[in-house]
Amino acid sequence: MPAPLPSERAFIPFVSVENMMRLVHHVGIETMLVELTDAIEADFRRWELFDKTPRVASHSHDGVIELMPTSDGAVYSFKYVNGHPKNMAQGLQTVTALGLLAEVSTGYPVLLTEMTLLTALRTAATSAMAARHLAPQKARCLALIGNGAQAEFQALAMKAVLGIEEVRLYDIDPRATQKTVRNLARTRLRLVPCTSAQAAIEGADIITTCTADKQYATILTDNMVGAGVHINAIGGDCPGKTELHRDILLRSDTFVEYPPQTRIEGEIQQMDPDYSVTELWQVVSGRAQGRSSDRQITLFDSVGFAIEDFSALRYVREKLAGTDYFQKLDIIADPDDPRDLFGMLLRAA
Ligand SMILES: NC(=O)c1ccc[n+]([C@@H]2O[C@H](COP(=O)([O-])OP(=O)(O)OC[C@H]3O[C@@H](n4cnc5c(N)ncnc54)[C@H](O)[C@@H]3O)[C@@H](O)[C@H]2O)c1
Repeated sequence: MPAPLPSERAFIPFVSVENMMRLVHHVGIETMLVELTDAIEADFRRWELFDKTPRVASHSHDGVIELMPTSDGAVYSFKYVNGHPKNMAQGLQTVTALGLLAEVSTGYPVLLTEMTLLTALRTAATSAMAARHLAPQKARCLALIGNGAQAEFQALAMKAVLGIEEVRLYDIDPRATQKTVRNLARTRLRLVPCTSAQAAIEGADIITTCTADKQYATILTDNMVGAGVHINAIGGDCPGKTELHRDILLRSDTFVEYPPQTRIEGEIQQMDPDYSVTELWQVVSGRAQGRSSDRQITLFDSVGFAIEDFSALRYVREKLAGTDYFQKLDIIADPDDPRDLFGMLLRAA
């Protein structure tokens, strides 16, 4: 990875929410989604290089707090992220996150950033990357079920990467759908608010479920899903939290990020341990087949994996070069004599 930022080892660049928003607008939202999709795909092609572990999750009654680490041998990253479906009722985000990149050679951090926005962008980019390999050719219509914080990002990534023209929207709360329609009004997407999930998926080539509810939910039942569609199930991402009826999985070819994590957290937690899945990196790198027929139902059982965050973090670091979209954070103690940490403290009195 290039080192685009001035090396002042005592300071690390910190990207606040405000600066992340400036960076996204500077690059352009759709351009950033396309570039992030490519960045994630590039790292999926070198999947075997990475340290991989299921994320470390601390579950509670109301949600989960997770740490998601990985390294490619040169750079290390981790993300802190929560998932609290009940937060929204209190005016709080369901998902918030922050992330860090470090040099493996010294262990020194080189970037600290907000990742709530960046997670929404990388999750949408990952959905688009999966759909690029699995969705029917010339897919033009997306059904988006669950119109919360992730929704617009998902819609725009499908537009920017796949050329989606129509988005059919459904949420149990019509205000969420109205918000999404408002936010996407200037995108030239044809937006169709629907009054049920069943109505939303009519004629859709791609169905994205993006709901938040800490239970075994049935957002889609088997009879609703016709042959030939691609499903991105992104909302079911922790134990006891799913979106699809298991019969859909019996008719689908299922693609996952990292099986040891997805078996615990994904839609496939409902299935027997020997339920067959294909790892998405193998499709991306040409080692496994993606879509093989027009009538096949493909399912990307997305839970979010650390390598996607690594890609997003390295992408942001590269994009910061030549900008002022960061603050210098004095977070690494750096005495002139590395053994004189205490002396540095005394001199500060
Ligand atoms: N797979 C990943 O990488 C990944 C990344 C980010 C978020 N997520 C997950 O995606 C989900 C959505 O996240 P968000 O930030 O958009 O949450 P959010 O709370 O902002 O939005 C969720 C929406 O789902 C709607 N909803 C709930 N039950 C529904 C139902 N039965 N039918 C239709 N709509 C329903 C709610 O009204 C709400 O508008 C969460 O579960 C989150 O954990 C996954």
